[in-house]
Amino acid sequence: MKKIGVLTSGGDSPGMNPAIRAVVRKAIFHNLEVYGIYGGYAGLVSGNIKKLELGSVGDIIHRGGTMLYSARLPEFKNKEVQQKAIEQLKNHGIEGLVVIGGDGSYRGAKALTEQGFPCVGVPGTIDNDIPGTEFTIGFDTALNTVIDAIDKIRDTATSHERTFVIEVMGRDAGDIALWAGLAGGAETILIPEENYDMDEIAERLKKGSERGKKHSIIVVAEGVCSGVEFGKQLNEKTHFDTRVSVLGHIQRGGSPTAFDRVLASRLGARAVELLIEGKGGRAVGIEKNHLVDYDIIEALDKKHTLDLDLFKLSKELSI
Ligand code: F6P
Repeated sequence: MKKIGVLTSGGDSPGMNPAIRAVVRKAIFHNLEVYGIYGGYAGLVSGNIKKLELGSVGDIIHRGGTMLYSARLPEFKNKEVQQKAIEQLKNHGIEGLVVIGGDGSYRGAKALTEQGFPCVGVPGTIDNDIPGTEFTIGFDTALNTVIDAIDKIRDTATSHERTFVIEVMGRDAGDIALWAGLAGGAETILIPEENYDMDEIAERLKKGSERGKKHSIIVVAEGVCSGVEFGKQLNEKTHFDTRVSVLGHIQRGGSPTAFDRVLASRLGARAVELLIEGKGGRAVGIEKNHLVDYDIIEALDKKHTLDLDLFKLSKELSI
């Protein structure tokens, strides 16, 4: 393998830049040429491809977002569009591709691999919902952003003796809500993986208030319901002074944490090694602090599992 490409696709995540840097520097270290594909699969299809040098990825390790830009391209599921992408790659002499992104990006990488073009997937999403890896790049930074918000909301919640509903991202997964809720000391955490009982929540809040609790924090994963809707229902049930905060896209930005930078560096470099070893069609991940790789085609058939022990613990600690 002499030339490889790298792209970022789907929702961006903090840590994509250090991952790109790792891919580029590792490839150059091994005397490969690296091409940056700008604007995800859309940029690939339209041929927005430029050679990257060591300096192209200087001064990005600490920056959120992605220097290669990102996009969602639903049409990429069409075979003709995929063929166009492969043509562009071949025109540039590119023989392998590193795809940094989430679920949708992996589907694109899987499709290209099935058509004979080797791709390696690197899990970059704040949602932490990729099967085969304990952590995705960006999850830790997003958590820290949410914790910062919860801590601040807690201050005003206490002053006004209010109940706050905080809606967080995560698509269909409850990881952000669960980890941030546990780390932020939330009274209640709602995740799509577990049903909730409004009467029980109302009862717990009432008991807390009777015991002298000055505020309550409820973290709701967007995959459960809208925070605004939940806040309305809760208000009707309890008549507590309730406010809702939807954290939204601030969860996707910001300087990546040390954890995400190290994870991105390790996974990005490993992806290049796999291409050098002639192992396309893989996805990289981390399990018990060891790098792993697995078949990208199988990866999508597996189901991401959330750590339900953490959920149980959060319930025990928030009595
Ligand atoms: O997958 C990352 C994510 O931020 C999800 O948590 C969220 O549901 C979605 O992307 C939002 O997408 P968009 O940026 O297209 O609004």
